Amino acid sequence: MKQIVIFNGSPRMDGNTVTLLNTVARGARDMGAEVKFYTLFKMKFMACQSCFACRVKDDCIIKDELHEALQKVKEADAVVVGSPIYMMQMTGPVKNLYDRLFPLTDSEYQPRFGKKKILTVYSQGMEDPHMFDSYFDYTAAMFPALGFEHAGNIVCTNGNDPESAEHDAALKIRAYEAGKALAR
Ligand SMILES: Cc1cc2nc3c(=O)[nH]c(=O)nc-3n(C[C@H](O)[C@H](O)[C@H](O)COP(=O)(O)O)c2cc1C
Repeated sequence: MKQIVIFNGSPRMDGNTVTLLNTVARGARDMGAEVKFYTLFKMKFMACQSCFACRVKDDCIIKDELHEALQKVKEADAVVVGSPIYMMQMTGPVKNLYDRLFPLTDSEYQPRFGKKKILTVYSQGMEDPHMFDSYFDYTAAMFPALGFEHAGNIVCTNGNDPESAEHDAALKIRAYEAGKALAR
């Protein structure tokens, strides 16, 4: 059974990021995957402290709520990270999540825990779905060192309306199919 870990990086529990992540989760579960869903805004966790302990050991020394999630990521077949766009970037908790994934790469920037798929999901206020393409690509450039193979990027536009994704049938089908594909 495939293990999939999903991180929600939106504070809006009824917003577009959550709608799309729930749809991805449904697709994955329908294919028999086990899905673990973490809501970053509800978790108490620290930002990376730059102690560099993970340069010598394959773990983070901070034993907070994100530590359990990090262990799940190590064992996972696929990871999904969803974030709204704030000030042209991912939200703060999502950046803190990525920093805390530093133990996934060794001192030579080789993956310590094998290859995993990663699906990214963004929601933005702007209408143009390509507005942040260069940022999405730039962000994805970190993935190979962590062992992540980028399996796709799903973007919800006009996201100030929390129901935009809910009303976009084609986008929801893409999210559902992406979830199924992660579980194959
Ligand atoms: C502090 C803040 C900054 C934002 N900055 C941007 C931005 O730079 N570009 C953009 O397209 N939308 C921006 N937005 C709009 C959000 O991306 C939009 O409301 C989002 O898609 C909501 O996602 P959600 O429904 O999953 O919470 C911003 C919203 C907030 C609260």
